[in-house]
Amino acid sequence: MASPVTSKGLGPEPSARASAGQSRHPWERFAECDPYLYILTPMKHTDPRVFWESGEQLVGAELLPVIRAEGVRLSLAMELGCGIGRLMFPLSRTFAHVVGVDIASGMVQRAAALANDKGINNVSFATISGPEDLLHQAGEYAGNCDFLYSLLVFQHIADVSIIEGYLHVTRTLLHPRGLAYLQFDTRDADALYRIKTHLPDFLLPRFLRRGIRRIRRSPQEIEAWIRRAGLEIVGQLTPESEYHRYILRLRQPKRTLS
Ligand SMILES: C[S@@+](CC[C@H](N)C(=O)[O-])C[C@H]1O[C@@H](n2cnc3c(N)ncnc32)[C@H](O)[C@@H]1O
Repeated sequence: MASPVTSKGLGPEPSARASAGQSRHPWERFAECDPYLYILTPMKHTDPRVFWESGEQLVGAELLPVIRAEGVRLSLAMELGCGIGRLMFPLSRTFAHVVGVDIASGMVQRAAALANDKGINNVSFATISGPEDLLHQAGEYAGNCDFLYSLLVFQHIADVSIIEGYLHVTRTLLHPRGLAYLQFDTRDADALYRIKTHLPDFLLPRFLRRGIRRIRRSPQEIEAWIRRAGLEIVGQLTPESEYHRYILRLRQPKRTLS
C-alpha cells in the first residue's frame, strides 16, 4: 500500500506518463494559474474559505448520506480527479484511507502539501496519465475500493474512450460490495450549446473554452458505457441536469430459477 501523504505514485512507475514530447495537459495550466477558481468556477473570485467550506458541505450533505444508506465499508475510498483535496480531506475523517488520483501533477503536488500542512496522514496521491496508467499504478487496490467517486471531472473530458476506460478501471478496482458515485453533465445539447461548442476559443469567455468547459452527454450514451463496463445503476440523483450523479456497483449475476 502507498505510504500516506505522498505524491510519488501508488505502485510501479507509470508507463505512459511524461513520455517525451507529450503536450502539457490544460489542467496543468489551470493548477498553476488558480486551482481554486478553476475547480470551483461558480465562486467567480478566488476565496479559499468558500472553497474548503464547499467541500465540507458537499461531503456532509451529499456523500456521507449515500455512504451510510448503502452500508459502504469504510476502509478505502478513491477519488478520480481529486484536484487539491477539497473532498478528500473531509472524507478522510470517515475512511481509514483515501487515495486521490489526477491527471495534473500540479494539483497532486498541492494536494499532498496541503495534506501535510493540515496534519492529515491517511491520504495518498498519484498523478496518472489516463485509465491504463491508473490501472497500472493502482493495481494493488484491485477489488478493494469501497467507494470510488468522481465529481466535476467527466464533464471536462472530451475523449469518450477515456471515460469508458475509467469506467472499466472502476469495475476492476471496486470491492464486490463497493459503490461508485460518478457525476456527468446530462443537460440537453440544445442549439445554443452546439453553437458555443463550435466557436473558436478566442471568441469565448474563459470558462467556456476547451479544457475547462462542461461537455454534455446524453443519459443513454452514459448508460451504455456503464453497461459495457460491467457495472449497474443502483441510484441516480438529479437526472438530466448539469449535476447528474450515478450510483453504481458491480453488475450482479442474474439469478436463474431452478
Ligand atoms: C473541476 S476539478 C474537480 C476536482 C475535485 N473533484 C473537486 O470536486 O474538488 C477537475 C479535476 O479533474 C482533473 N482531470 C481532468 N481531466 C482528467 C482526466 N482525464 N483524468 C484524471 N483527472 C482529470 C483535473 O486535473 C482537476 O483536478
